[in-house]
Amino acid sequence: MSGKLNGKTALVTGACNGIGLADAIEFVKEKADTVIMVSDNNERLLEAKETVKQYGNAEIITYRLDVTSENEWKDFIDEMSKKINKLDVLVNNAGVNKRATFQECTLEDWNHVITVNQTGVFLGMKYCLALLKKSGNASIINMSSITGLTGYFAVAYTASKWAVRGMTKSAAMEFGELGIRVNSIHPGFINTPFNESIQDLIKLSNGMNSLGRAGEAFEIAKAVTFLASDDSSYMTGTEVILDGGLTSGGQFKLLAKQFNNY
Ligand code: NAI
Repeated sequence: MSGKLNGKTALVTGACNGIGLADAIEFVKEKADTVIMVSDNNERLLEAKETVKQYGNAEIITYRLDVTSENEWKDFIDEMSKKINKLDVLVNNAGVNKRATFQECTLEDWNHVITVNQTGVFLGMKYCLALLKKSGNASIINMSSITGLTGYFAVAYTASKWAVRGMTKSAAMEFGELGIRVNSIHPGFINTPFNESIQDLIKLSNGMNSLGRAGEAFEIAKAVTFLASDDSSYMTGTEVILDGGLTSGGQFKLLAKQFNNY
């Protein structure tokens, strides 16, 4: 039986937990040939590989890679070029947050978040390009956020996610003629280890979205898989929002309810 990703080779960064792990699982379920899982946490990555293997027969390759390091990207691509002859899907998913306002955010905090979330995506697209070109029909999915669409108190995170949204459009423009589509994903609050420390904020925000709940990693992975597959063959340079309706005016519902106007 064929799947949506039949015959494809896919790479996911930050694949050892949360949304990246869910992407890898979904790719295997949709019959990708090879799924390459990378992360800066090798121990967790090996555990994640065992989980992913249970979902199908794809070849799973794991590799410890810090997405902020140009040298590590170079070594990684050299190594991969010996194992695969093309790359069909790149998911730039690795990300970190420092929930600090302008007044609290140090330069060190700023540089860390920008380097992982923004420079990491730049390097990912730059160094995977040669292998993606060999596909002739490739798709890049960059993980932004609803904070790449609106303002948010975490200044460095917000800046990095707007940058991902912008870079996605520049890359879509440049790579279209190379047979590569590039789109960004904008999740709202999703239940992953990323959000363990902000459960109160999530609870409150649930009252502001149309579905009344946070999202699950597999719900993001389904959309990532759609963008990775040929089903989205005419989509490039665009933004896919998965936020349960949070950015579509949910705050007005909460306010109206508080004032008994709803
Ligand atoms: P997570 O914390 O569960 O996973 C993040 C992954 O990135 C981990 O595998 C971690 O090892 C990896 N990583 C961090 N720094 C790295 C580095 N320097 N090099 C390589 N890998 C590195 O987070 P989650 O929730 O799965 O987030 C995935 C992406 O989705 C991130 O880009 C995040 O900003 C974005 N996102 C998450 C939302 C959420 O509510 N969970 C909402 C909107 C966007």
